[in-house]
Amino acid sequence: MSMERTVYVNGAFVAEGEAKISVFDRGFLFADGVYEVTSVLGGKLVDFPFHLRRLHRSLAALDMPGPAGDAELEAIHRALIAKNALDEGMVYLQVTRGAADRDFAYPAAPEPSLVMFTQARALADAPAGVHGIKVLTVPDIRWGRRDIKTVQLLAPSMAKMMARRAGCDDAWMVEDGFVTEGTSNNAWIVTTDGALVTRALSAAILHGITRAAVMEYAREAQMRIEERAFTVAEAMGAAEAFITAATAFVTPVVAIDGRQVGDGVPGPVTTRLRAIYVAESRRRAR
Ligand code: PDD
Repeated sequence: MSMERTVYVNGAFVAEGEAKISVFDRGFLFADGVYEVTSVLGGKLVDFPFHLRRLHRSLAALDMPGPAGDAELEAIHRALIAKNALDEGMVYLQVTRGAADRDFAYPAAPEPSLVMFTQARALADAPAGVHGIKVLTVPDIRWGRRDIKTVQLLAPSMAKMMARRAGCDDAWMVEDGFVTEGTSNNAWIVTTDGALVTRALSAAILHGITRAAVMEYAREAQMRIEERAFTVAEAMGAAEAFITAATAFVTPVVAIDGRQVGDGVPGPVTTRLRAIYVAESRRRAR
């Protein structure tokens, strides 16, 4: 079966091979763009209002005009899911400051570009979610505004490749001795006395939508949460570790820098949180 997707580019739904963006697009020349990734379960969007809210926050931080109203953005998401018969996976949305003659200063009257596409992917039954992943710790060389979800993703790509070359699945980035986050996910540990620990929100990390949802579900399940930074050594000595992201849900981390975490298999707290997250996300998906 030919699987050419229908994607959305600046007002039109087109076959992916026909989609075009200007060579002068500031997303291409300056990484002057922001994005969101919303997961899809059973053809429905998970936590979409929260992704919209974060998109507005990213746009405002960069003085970038929005490309369309919320209702239109939602309608395009739903149209793409329908046109591509997407049952499980994600919808990617990218807004850039658009095309303008190359200049470091922002154009006076930008016309934002809006691109969206779908990607099918097993989420609820992803093998990594069941068996866990191995992470490598690397220095966090990213810029100082990681709370803005920009398309400037070369540093995490390099980190991911360092991890792959070391026989790991992903990287955890480290700054001043403390873990910031994963390449495309938030990092968590479970202490030996059962508390969930994840870094507090700041400009050092992306404010994950999955992180917030997991926090809410964990509180409802009477779990204790500590929002604070942790070191690599503390993570290595933790009972369990895991990551959260729209595309990972709750995924166990079973080894850090070649040392197993806990028993080296997904632990009971992580496994329970993943099950709760999948069930709640299916229930909340719209
Ligand atoms: N990444 N931290 C970083 C650096 C991320 O890129 C992401 C998401 C997260 C988790 O955020 P959320 O729970 O809202 O997905 C944390 C997306 C999935 C990506 O780049 O593909």
